[in-house]
Amino acid sequence: MKDRLQKIKEEAIAKIQASENLEKLNEIKVAVLGKKGELTEVLKGMKDVAAEDRPAVGQMVNDTRAAIEAKLEEVKEQLSKAVREAKLKSEVIDVTLPAKKNNMGHRHPNTIALEELERIFVGMGYEVVEGPEVEYDYYNFEALNIPANHPAKDEQDTFYINDKIVLRTQTSPVQARVMEKGKLPIRMIAPGRVFRSDEVDATHSPSFHQVEGLVVDKNITFADLKGTLAQFARELFGEQTKVKFRPHHFPFTEPSAEMDVTCFKCGGKGCRMCKDSGWIEILGCGMVHPNVFKMCGIDPEEYTGFAFGVGLERIALLKYEIDDMRLLYENDIRFLKQF
Ligand code: DAH
Repeated sequence: MKDRLQKIKEEAIAKIQASENLEKLNEIKVAVLGKKGELTEVLKGMKDVAAEDRPAVGQMVNDTRAAIEAKLEEVKEQLSKAVREAKLKSEVIDVTLPAKKNNMGHRHPNTIALEELERIFVGMGYEVVEGPEVEYDYYNFEALNIPANHPAKDEQDTFYINDKIVLRTQTSPVQARVMEKGKLPIRMIAPGRVFRSDEVDATHSPSFHQVEGLVVDKNITFADLKGTLAQFARELFGEQTKVKFRPHHFPFTEPSAEMDVTCFKCGGKGCRMCKDSGWIEILGCGMVHPNVFKMCGIDPEEYTGFAFGVGLERIALLKYEIDDMRLLYENDIRFLKQF
């Protein structure tokens, strides 16, 4: 019995010592110590050992088992360490390699133009406010002095949600919403998306953006309007820019005008950009109509004001000399990354 145990021990230890990986080690463990293992077989033979010899034999079996287990543990530790080291070696990170460039996006030409406009007006003390894109017919038309059967409604044919609710055709309804609140004086711009049922072409889109402006205070005159918008044009297109006002009609302003700026490409001499006229139209404006004031609960005898509306895409197209509005909406990276 003693020899047999000695033999099992020596053989097991030799095999353990020689095993080159953890799987092999486990196979040896099962073969020697497992349910059907060699050592277990010896234990089963204990019943044939004389009673007085049993304690000594039992002790020997336990010692053998302990020796084998200790060896198993030792080699397992060595093998695991080797595995860890190999893994670390194969996963080395070369921190001196140049980092991968992150493909960072940037602002859309519309956004750049809007931020420029906001910078100019905020610099003059204006507040930036927003209104809803889905708007009551009342604010979009009626409160702006455009009654139900007014022909101006045709020019701004829009998308109706129902009889009372439309997708706003202009940012002007924000004027009425702000005035209605009754906090005076007012100096605000309201940028945002507007909608019209237009076919898409180089200069039209069913959805585009405007920036509305409104100033209401005591003693505001057309001179304030001209001075403010001329300053705006100089900041946007350059110090040498001149402006001119052509009489126009908007239902919510009286008098009303459209403002042109001298062509920033040719300086007014005439070129392709300004269609040889030397001037480029950029916005509509006027003195707030007394009817609009009355509907919004402001006394037109006490307060006056001016308003204007700028097409944001128009500014972006002009500034960057883009000749087709559709390019702004196609999200083609090759186009957008140029700005
Ligand atoms: N809402 C006008 C449009 O969409 C633009 C406009 C003109 C706005 C004159 C104004 C204004 O505030 O005073 O054509």
